[in-house]
Amino acid sequence: MKIRLLLAAILTLGSAASALASKERPVIGLSLDTLKEERWQRDRDTIIAEAKKLGAEVIVQSANSDDTRQTRDIESLITRKVDVLLVVPHNGAALGRAMKSAAEAKIPVIAYDRLILNAPIDYYLTFDNVKVGEAQAAYAAARLPKDRAARIVRIYGAPTDNNAKLFKQGQDNILSPLIAAGKIQVVHEDWALDWKPENAKKIMNAAVTKAGKAIDAVVVSNDGTAGGAIQALTEDGLAGKVIVTGQDADLAACQRILRGTQAMTVYKPLKNLATLAARVAVDVAKGKKPSTTATLDNGAKKVPSIFEQVISVDKANLAATVVADGFHKAEQLK
Ligand code: BGC
Repeated sequence: MKIRLLLAAILTLGSAASALASKERPVIGLSLDTLKEERWQRDRDTIIAEAKKLGAEVIVQSANSDDTRQTRDIESLITRKVDVLLVVPHNGAALGRAMKSAAEAKIPVIAYDRLILNAPIDYYLTFDNVKVGEAQAAYAAARLPKDRAARIVRIYGAPTDNNAKLFKQGQDNILSPLIAAGKIQVVHEDWALDWKPENAKKIMNAAVTKAGKAIDAVVVSNDGTAGGAIQALTEDGLAGKVIVTGQDADLAACQRILRGTQAMTVYKPLKNLATLAARVAVDVAKGKKPSTTATLDNGAKKVPSIFEQVISVDKANLAATVVADGFHKAEQLK
């Protein structure tokens, strides 16, 4: 009897101790869509570094653009009893089952950069994605010929990514009135599946086949796909003659901007977002309520959100923004 009581006491103590340990040293489960674009590697590294400073641990999974795999990744993080989930969805509308499992296990979910739709998630931390699209289109529109209808190609991102729709919405805000006024003609447009550069290259090839080489600008939604489009333009002897936009300030894109084959990118200070994410995740794991500045309806609820600001970058301000911020070193850009 005594032994049994002692055992029960030890067990109770043990579980109390582990609950305490988990609060003091929270474990963050980070589920990424992909690590292929340079930016996500940087996001991951910054989140891990900031979490470490805060005494937290991060377990990382990357789904390689596969919804089934991402569901499995999240379920395995739940099984490993992470205290909070930080998720960059491949497809914001395809994580219903995983989100249900998280809710059942009472694990809070923070959507990182991309929104998770139709699930009662806890927070959404991102950049102002509509502004990204506006910056891209405004940059191109300001530099188009004014003496005739300008001819542009539009390459959108992955149709499965809610952000891709927001980038297009921002571009539409600027371009639609100009298209309606006959000042701009869209000669070709398409969505680059999974944001793959090779898909953007195919779209650009198709655009030249369909509309010929008289193209003034290609409004592309990120740097990876801009790289693909520029490859196609290079094959046609058009690189450097056509305005190409992008986003992310990837190293290769910044080099292209200096060489003149890409006109602009949108710099998103990832350090701010990733640091914020680690802090919010640790707070949430400890049962605190981090303060937010906005809400966004994801179909299930108004999700408390934070939107970080973005900066339009071209050759003229690359040094004063991306380099000055320590995002890339000046030597890397030579
Ligand atoms: C992100 C971009 C990124 C793209 C492809 C978007 O959701 O906001 O920064 O380039 O996904 O990964």
